[in-house]
Amino acid sequence: MTALLGVSGLTRRFTLPRAPGFRRVGPRVVAAVEDVSFEVAAGEVLTIVGESGSGKTTVARVLAGLDTATAGTVSLAGRELAGVRTPADQRLIQLVTQNPRAAFNRRRTLRHALHQPLRVHGLAANRAERDALVLDLVERVGLTADHLDRLPGEVSGGELARLVLARALSVRPRVLVLDEPTASLDASVKATVVELLLRLRADLDLAIVVITHEIDIARRLADRAAVMYLGRIVELGPAERVLARPRHPYPLALLASVPVPDPARVGPASAAALGEGIVGEVPSPLDPPAGCGYHPRCPFATEVCVERRPLAEPLGDVEVACHHPR
Ligand SMILES: Nc1ncnc2c1ncn2[C@@H]1O[C@H](COP(=O)(O)OP(=O)(O)OP(=O)(O)O)[C@@H](O)[C@H]1O
Ligand SMILES: [Mg+2]
Repeated sequence: MTALLGVSGLTRRFTLPRAPGFRRVGPRVVAAVEDVSFEVAAGEVLTIVGESGSGKTTVARVLAGLDTATAGTVSLAGRELAGVRTPADQRLIQLVTQNPRAAFNRRRTLRHALHQPLRVHGLAANRAERDALVLDLVERVGLTADHLDRLPGEVSGGELARLVLARALSVRPRVLVLDEPTASLDASVKATVVELLLRLRADLDLAIVVITHEIDIARRLADRAAVMYLGRIVELGPAERVLARPRHPYPLALLASVPVPDPARVGPASAAALGEGIVGEVPSPLDPPAGCGYHPRCPFATEVCVERRPLAEPLGDVEVACHHPR
């Protein structure tokens, strides 16, 4: 079976302008994303977790066609999508970003905001058809027609988060990419958004990629999890495994830095390895460490970690890029 979304060898480097006064230094290159590969099936949720600056948003933007990769490919049902998307392809992968307030024009009604993508992509024959489609969407996300006549400032943050989803879904995407969808929401609203996403995934058979800092949200939503560090995936596998008993020292430390809701699920061996949590700072992606990017912070690092970058290899039910998996 071909996965719905296929990402292979995805790399995005940014060249920064030369700093004034450093004319003899060559161009500085930020390796934001390096050789990232994963697949997501229809009806599946993949979560991407990792510290700030690990390249999560860059992956999301390239997936959605808002940025072009330096190398690598994005495919949909086995068909490679061009870096610069055709309008027809552009709608197939929709990105929802963190701040719902910034996503709407505050002077236009929400009805206008929801009608516009249907008009742009020519997905409805006339106004009546657009009206019907928009009403169906609004009900799908648990709101009513009366929300449509309001301005973005006249609905709550949670309602707006639902409307952002409705708008992304209006163009009938196959893949939904959500970058920190719950970061700006109250705890109770977060829970309803999680429920909604799980229902939409099942109803619409979407492939969903969720980027989040919130490990508890990732655990509730995801079937599979990818952990990124300095632009690379260091561990990929079933979410209940990667987000509870990872093999790579980085997610182990990352999980130790967040409260464990159910300590019984973390085996005694890994509980000991969790130790103090994450230590030190993320190295600069302008000047990444040689060998394994995590070695300067890793309590298990040896000489080989300094010398050679570990390749991702299957280990039980996960793939891990580490010389000394736990
Ligand atoms: N347009 C750009 N020009 C130069 N560097 C960039 C650009 N966009 C991102 N970067 C760099 O690429 C790296 C990855 O950034 P990205 O925004 O993808 O991280 P992130 O994982 O989403 O972080 P956060 O959790 O803080 O949102 C960072 O070092 C960032 O500074
Ligand atoms: Mg980001």
